[in-house]
Amino acid sequence: MGTISRRTFFKGMILASAAALTACAGPGGVRRGQPAPAGADADPRPLPIPPLYEGELDGTDGTTRRFELTAQEGEYEIVPGHTTKTWGFNGAWLGPTLLMRRGEHIEMTVRNEVPEPTVVHWHGLHLPAAADGGPALMFPPGESWTPSWDVDQPAATCWYHPHPHETSALHAYRGLAGAIIVADEGPETIDFPSDYGVDDIPVIITDAKFTADYQLDETIDPTYGLLGDTPLVNGITRPRFEASRRVLRLRLVNGATMRFHHLELGVPFQVIATDQGVLSGPALVDGILLSPGERAEILVYLEPGKDLTLRSTGVPDGGGLPREEAANGFGLRDTFDLLQIAVPETLEGSGEGEEGKLVWDIHSEEPSAEGVPEREWRLNGFQINEQSMDMARVDAVIDHSGPELWHVINENADWPHNFHIHNARFRVHDIQDGEIAFRDGWHDTITIPPRSRVSLLVVFGQYPDPTLAYMFHCHMLFHEDEGMMGQFVIVEPGQEPALDHPNH
Ligand code: C2O
Ligand code: CU
Ligand code: CU
Repeated sequence: MGTISRRTFFKGMILASAAALTACAGPGGVRRGQPAPAGADADPRPLPIPPLYEGELDGTDGTTRRFELTAQEGEYEIVPGHTTKTWGFNGAWLGPTLLMRRGEHIEMTVRNEVPEPTVVHWHGLHLPAAADGGPALMFPPGESWTPSWDVDQPAATCWYHPHPHETSALHAYRGLAGAIIVADEGPETIDFPSDYGVDDIPVIITDAKFTADYQLDETIDPTYGLLGDTPLVNGITRPRFEASRRVLRLRLVNGATMRFHHLELGVPFQVIATDQGVLSGPALVDGILLSPGERAEILVYLEPGKDLTLRSTGVPDGGGLPREEAANGFGLRDTFDLLQIAVPETLEGSGEGEEGKLVWDIHSEEPSAEGVPEREWRLNGFQINEQSMDMARVDAVIDHSGPELWHVINENADWPHNFHIHNARFRVHDIQDGEIAFRDGWHDTITIPPRSRVSLLVVFGQYPDPTLAYMFHCHMLFHEDEGMMGQFVIVEPGQEPALDHPNH
């Protein structure tokens, strides 16, 4: 695979105005019109279902689950009839779906058999910083890393992907990504479909662009990063899923490095969970926006004989970007057919009618925002609060166990951003000067529309450790790699951070 040729060109630059941002697009930076996805004219292929990897349960107490993941090189037929060099976990391309249950202890071994240093982050999990897989923990080819943690959070769809310093986008783009199912008693008592691969389906949305000989084009655009023109679901173009049951649960993961997706099915569907777990009750919607890194679980009620298509229909209102050119450049107006769902005349569980829709009502305790510590993070260009990521700097010290109110502001008029916090869950508390159509539930990643101020009520996992930081960042991975990331530490009351970052 090629090496990285861009970099530091725009580093440290503060992009304050639309004019500056336009200048940044540079030659070739502005794409026009609808991209032509590779393989768009080929016949659909069956949707690959990543293997469900439940690890090895420890014989002695049965509550320890051991996993072994190897990041490796391989080849895969992403586009029919063409072989592409790829990376994957325990296989050529992407990774297995990891299953873990609340209350279990996880012992993970990650082997690095790719030719570059990397590290794996468990996006959405609450765990000690030493297991979180931030950039300070990257490790060289040929070595292993063995984080361990206890699963102590409600059921959710999470995911894992690399987080090496300044090359996260490239490593994810090459294929290092997979889903995590956190299972928990609570939501499982709601009768959600949960037959993996049958009526409970991971839908991992990524994208690629290809060179003339169908290798991954690793050209990093100075404005749009690795935005691919060819959408992939579970790693292939034009997938088709054959449904067999009336109610289908899709675990939607936006694993794209830069792309926002507004997803529709042409019929209303129920949102049952956001990033951090099940909603307090069902929400019926016509579409949902997932920014890079976000997840949602949805239930689709199939009508016998009526095929459906999961489509990316373009971000409403061009994502709030006033200039058409910028909205197009970021792909916010692109539309794609992502996944065909073939629905036979006879479905198991048929005949329940509309009333067959699941309902539930979970009473969840809401933290209060009253009097909690507040912080402000201003996103601008590739920086946060006029600073680039520095692995030696601590941007926030959290020395209490309560929630905090984080005000995240997108100062750019012409750039979308989003915001992700490690080891945390948050509610969207307030939005000013912008709109987030669906804001219910617990999140760990959320879109921050241009010029808006989004206030998040954040609850952190409690694993005090003054020596290692957690990250918060824009999850457009090119922005993260360019420095749009900060660090926080969780410490005991009164404790001072004392970062230990051996590699840097
Ligand atoms: Cu999914 Cu810090 O990332
Ligand atoms: Cu994360
Ligand atoms: Cu960003």
